Amino acid sequence: MSHPTHLRSQFPNGFRFGAATSSYQIEGHQFGGAGRTHWDDFAAGPGNVVRAEHGGQACDHYNRYEEDLDLVKDAGFDAYRFSVSWARVLPEGRGTPNPEGLDFYDRLTDAMLERGLDPWVTLYHWELPSALADLGGWRNRDIAMWLADFAEVIMGRIGDRMHAIAPINEPWCVAWLSHYLGLHAPGLRDIRATARAMHHVCLAHGTTTQALRAMGLSNLGGVFNLEWSHPADDTDDAREAAALYDDIYNNFFLGGVFKGAYPERIVQGLGAHLPGGWENDFDTITTPLDWCGLNYYTCSRIAPAPETPWPHLRAEEGPLPKTQMGWEIYPDGLKQFLLRTAQEFTGDLPLFITENGMANADVVTNGTVDDQARISFVQAYLNAVQDAIAEGVPVNGYFLWSLMDNFEWAVGYEKRFGAVHVDFETQKRTPKASWHWLKSGLSE
Ligand code: FCB
Repeated sequence: MSHPTHLRSQFPNGFRFGAATSSYQIEGHQFGGAGRTHWDDFAAGPGNVVRAEHGGQACDHYNRYEEDLDLVKDAGFDAYRFSVSWARVLPEGRGTPNPEGLDFYDRLTDAMLERGLDPWVTLYHWELPSALADLGGWRNRDIAMWLADFAEVIMGRIGDRMHAIAPINEPWCVAWLSHYLGLHAPGLRDIRATARAMHHVCLAHGTTTQALRAMGLSNLGGVFNLEWSHPADDTDDAREAAALYDDIYNNFFLGGVFKGAYPERIVQGLGAHLPGGWENDFDTITTPLDWCGLNYYTCSRIAPAPETPWPHLRAEEGPLPKTQMGWEIYPDGLKQFLLRTAQEFTGDLPLFITENGMANADVVTNGTVDDQARISFVQAYLNAVQDAIAEGVPVNGYFLWSLMDNFEWAVGYEKRFGAVHVDFETQKRTPKASWHWLKSGLSE
């Protein structure tokens, strides 16, 4: 299985390979004078996170970033996608910056450049400062201004050295997962909060993109997570349910940002809860971008659930092999999404897979981790990317989620997504078989 695969030569010249992480999941939030975030608060609530784990220590990347960036470089990656912690830079979300936080991202940036890695930064990968959560967080329209102001502070320090910038990671997770399903911070299950968050996340994407442009920064994009939506069975009702799920998950955010319109089904379902005047914000929301990133992991099987509130849906278990997360492995969804995104939303804009990967119950045995399942997974998804390229889709790069095992949000440290194993007691890093496989495939 793990013979060299000549990964580079399977792709067009200039195709970029990268590894992705995010700040709260790896840095160790207790270090360096960072302020409190709504993930610290969420983790402190009953039953929200497995074993009430949190990002206080995480991978201790704050202190070990040089060793970690060596692992990115030694694997042969071209690029490193990371995020900056808002509360590390602005402990109160606004106001006086924390010099230690700014210095950290400055050192981190230079450490990437010294290793020849292109820095790809995301400004918001979910850890809202608690002080802003207290003001309503994503429910408050002012967040569109708060995020743009934070962008100016942090990019004022490191923007000159960034290769690419995206304001927000995964709008669906920020809005729906966190305000309707209640599975991520702030853990709400509130339709009105959801509708507001859905719109404000689009608006904040736009205001922040504008602020970055006004600073003279370029190569700005958006990062959207998509999930393929299958009807659970062959009935019209299931097809309609799956189409509604597809609109909520996939078409709402891409539609807002690239078409200046939300899907009709959502406007009908959420209309009463959207903030007044939402229709007038699309000039800002559709501020032009230079690239579009897709994060893709899995598919769902959607059935109607008339006994539940709008959107009257439920997900059923599917038949395909699953990862440690219980997520079905469905590479064809990635190919279909690349085709559809280019056709319906982005046209000639360069597309990147900004996250793809799997959790696996990896263990260290005699100093090695034999994650053959991850190798097969990545190869299958890279094949899907190649198929899309062969059909003319301008896909320009692929980022593996993730460089190393880390704090996987509500499921804590148990689910291992890394190409590098982390022992969270000792902080020892052990490159897995997949890391060695990537290295042999990327270093030709
Ligand atoms: C994505 C997130 C990332 C990680 C992976 C598994 O939704 O962007 O932080 O949790 O899922």
